[in-house]
Amino acid sequence: DRPSLVLGIETSCDETAAAVVLREPDGAGRILSSIVRTQWEQHRPFGGVVPEIAARAHVECLDLIVRDALREADAGLDDLTAVAATTGPGLIGGLIVGAITGKALALARGLPFIAVHHLEAHALTVGLTEGVRPPYLLLLVSGGHTQLLIVHGVGVYERLGTTIDDALGEAFDKTAKLLGLGLPGGPAVEKLAQRGDPRRFDLPRPMLGREEPHFSFAGLKTAVRRTAEKLTPLSEQDAADIAASFQAAVAASVADRCARAMELTVARLDPLAPRRFVVAGGVAANTQLRAALSELAAARGFSFHAPPVSLCGDNAAMIAWAGAERLAEGLTDQLDAKVRPRWPLDLNAAPAIGA
Ligand code: KG4
Ligand code: ZN
Repeated sequence: DRPSLVLGIETSCDETAAAVVLREPDGAGRILSSIVRTQWEQHRPFGGVVPEIAARAHVECLDLIVRDALREADAGLDDLTAVAATTGPGLIGGLIVGAITGKALALARGLPFIAVHHLEAHALTVGLTEGVRPPYLLLLVSGGHTQLLIVHGVGVYERLGTTIDDALGEAFDKTAKLLGLGLPGGPAVEKLAQRGDPRRFDLPRPMLGREEPHFSFAGLKTAVRRTAEKLTPLSEQDAADIAASFQAAVAASVADRCARAMELTVARLDPLAPRRFVVAGGVAANTQLRAALSELAAARGFSFHAPPVSLCGDNAAMIAWAGAERLAEGLTDQLDAKVRPRWPLDLNAAPAIGA
């Protein structure tokens, strides 16, 4: 067994990214390079990501970013073991750009191509950054997804809960818009909330106490909008207080849902399996959420793990790593692999161990 060197490509939304990751035969990982170029400037005038603009921007810069990632890793194409690219879920134009580029490089050098599920990459990032291996309970919170999953192994995911309406990242982005903050919304809300009073507004804590660990954020969003409308024109302090109250409601609701998922996880997993709780995805960068979840984990006897903030948002190191993990399991794809704008993660879920 030799170490594998994998080039990863990420173009599923508004970040163009390439990275080179090394995976040792024992499962240890190391990032040799990771380049992320965001397109926020191009989308900002429209108040959200415009798919057509995103796809064109990926075309314009992806080749150069791949070149730079290889240079920074001090690697040539001939040093690579495989090429991995995100093939879904995401915006179809961008996915096509990344998939075609990855396939072309693999074809040119006769390398295996790995079609990576974007959420699987978020899900496995802690293996690269913290050395955390399955099984673990995962809260996956991004711009488009909010899910609780048991990660049984690479490619084996069991979904416990999901959102019945908006994704958590979406709720942050909509709140940001309401408060007149720019893109990206999540970090802007978090920053403003630091100066606010989280107790000033009593916003709903959605789904509290519900049996199934599902989420809902539409009602909270409406409450935020009503609160903001009543106070219009908003002072700086009003906006900060709304942001802080919103974050407090989110943290309480999410922690309650995760507590329920922890109970289910304990019932599902082997009693001797370590109890691990992982949070990943763009929203996992939120300091207050991390603190609330870390506290919850400690209270419930789970260890708590999250990728470093720089690897919570979209990047290609996680794509290269997911590719390396799949390669180690012998899971490679053909060059006719499809891009899949919609692609559920728990498709291959196997029954839980001991169930
Ligand atoms: O995983 P990600 O980078 O892209 C997707 O796959 O969707 O997640 C992006 C989402 C956005 O909604 C963004 O506002 C949110 O993550 N986000 C945050 C923070 N940083 C990014 N939300 C709350 N607090 C943050 N610090
Ligand atoms: Zn993502």
